[in-house]
Order: sequence, then C-alpha cells, then structure tokens
Amino acid sequence: MKKYIEEMPKAELHVHLEGTLEPEHIFSLAERNNISLDYKTPEEVVAAYDFHDLPSFLTIYYAAMNVLQTEQDFYELAYHYFLRAKKDSIVYVEPFFDPQGHTSRGVAFDTIIQGIHRAQLDAQEKLGIESNLIMCFLRDLSAESAMEHLEMSLPYKDWIIGVGLDSDEKDNPPSKFAEVFARAREEGYLLTMHCDVNQVDIVDHIWQCVNDIKVDRIDHGINSLEDEALCDEIVKRGLGLTVCPVSNRFVVQNLTSAEIKTMLTKNMKVTINSDDPGYFRAYLTENFLALIEDAEFTIDEMKQLNKNAFDVSWLDTKRKQDYLNQVEEFFESTV
Ligand code: ADE
Ligand code: ZN
Repeated sequence: MKKYIEEMPKAELHVHLEGTLEPEHIFSLAERNNISLDYKTPEEVVAAYDFHDLPSFLTIYYAAMNVLQTEQDFYELAYHYFLRAKKDSIVYVEPFFDPQGHTSRGVAFDTIIQGIHRAQLDAQEKLGIESNLIMCFLRDLSAESAMEHLEMSLPYKDWIIGVGLDSDEKDNPPSKFAEVFARAREEGYLLTMHCDVNQVDIVDHIWQCVNDIKVDRIDHGINSLEDEALCDEIVKRGLGLTVCPVSNRFVVQNLTSAEIKTMLTKNMKVTINSDDPGYFRAYLTENFLALIEDAEFTIDEMKQLNKNAFDVSWLDTKRKQDYLNQVEEFFESTV
C-alpha cells in the first residue's frame, strides 16, 4: 500500500508556496540577504514551531517570509517545492502565493511573480511537473488592498489561473471580498476561498462561498458536513474540497479522517493536500500515509481521493482526462 501511495501520479491543489519554506532555506536566505534571525540553527527554528490554532501558525508563517527578497529567492522557494513534489510523484500542481505578504515589506509584485513563474517553467521542462498559479488575498487585510493587488496582477493574467482567500478567517467572511471576487471573475480568473476548519460562523461562510461568491472550489470546507442541504448543494455543483489532514492535526488536533470518509460516501469531491508542508513537516505522500495509519483507508478510497484532485483541478477537459488515464494505467499495471 505504501509503495502505491508513494508512486501513484498525483495532483496537489492546496499548497502555499510560502508554506513550503524549509528551515534550512530560511537560514541560507537570511544569510544571503543579511537578515538576522532569532534562532541559531534550523533545529531551533523547528523547535519553535508550536502551532495549536490558525493564528499561532500564521504569526510564524508571516515572520519567516521576511527572508524572501529577490527574484532568485522566489525562484528557489518554488523550485525547491517542485523538486520535493517530484519525489512524491506529483505531476500537476495549483500552488498558492500570498503577494501581500511581500509587497507589504517593499518587495515588488514583479519580483515575486517573475521568480515563481521561472520556477514553473523549469519544473515543467526539467521535472515534467505542470502547474497553474493561484494568487491569494489575505482576508485580515482590507478589501481595498485586495482590489489593488488584483489590479497589480492584471499585466500577468496569463500566468495566473485564479484567485483565493487565505489568512485569519475570524471576523473576515467571504462577503467582505464580494466585489473583489466579482471583478476577478470578470477578468477571467477562477475562484476559490479558504473555509478553514472550525472557524466562527464557518457554515455560514461556506454558504456565502457557494451562493454569493459562486466559487469554483472550496479550500478545506470540512464543516460543510454539519449541514445536509449544504452538502447536497456542493455535490450538485460538483465543487471540489481541498482538505489538508496533517495541517488539520496542527490547527484542530484532528486529522479529520472520519470526515474525509464521510465526504467520500456522500460523493463529495474531497481531495488530499499538504497546505504548508515546510511547517507541518509533511508533504503530500505523508498526508496520504497519515490517513492510512489513522483510519485504515482502502486502496480504492486512496485512488478515489487522488482521482478527485485531477477531476476538480482547473485543467481543461482533455488534460484532465489524460491525467486520469495515467492514474488508471498506474493502478492497472501496479496493483
Ligand atoms: N495561509 C497559509 N496557510 C494557511 C491556512 N492553513 N489557513 C489560512 N491561511 C493560510
Ligand atoms: Zn491553506
């Protein structure tokens, strides 16, 4: 089973590039950019990773971003992730990036996106990994700031497939960004939003995503299970849910294995993802393996979770089918 999980061709739809920053890389970038750190070794950094909820994680996540300064830094950030993804047999990714986490420190939007885009081209050419980038807005900043960044992104529209919404969800509902997301849709972007686990008013937030914003996908969305009508609507619209088990273990002390199984039985298009693997110390394969250990998932369930990711990806129908055939062929020849 472990070998099948490791080797099956995979897609990842919920991974924050800034969340793939590894402790060793934090150190080397700090040295290169003359930034002083509060820690003496990468081990000390990991020891300080004491997350117990979303805000305690985000504080550390934003502090570490300071080391990212140049186009080369963003290139390395993304390319290191792609190299690691290759080991997990990932063939397709829709990674997030958080431009406001960098422009707020004086880094130009062009610097960020040029570095990431160059890594995407190299990943395609050298590693055979295809990717489409999603730009996230930080929901604890203003809607005006999100709109400014949406406008900043327009010259690079061909390099960005869609927009998302992340960061601290408390008191920052989807409706705050209704105008920004409507404009993003007009500009041709696809839409997704985080509906993080067990947040205040979370079921209402998911309804807002579905009915008002009309998202094309939902990030997390575990709490939709609390409302039968909401589940039905999600199934009816074929909306994918990008669930992140190990991240959930940090943020809500639960891998949410039972919820993932329930979603499968309800024909909800649930997918498995790593979220911030540099911090939660588990990449995609490790997320699948953690589920097996926790709740004895069958090979068919694993296969379904994996196929769902290609199915609800933002690839065109032909590319999707190519990848789904690749998965079928892998299981026919291996299992
Ligand atoms: N930004 C990076 N990781 C996140 C998460 N898990 N939830 C919300 N915002 C994030
Ligand atoms: Zn996330």
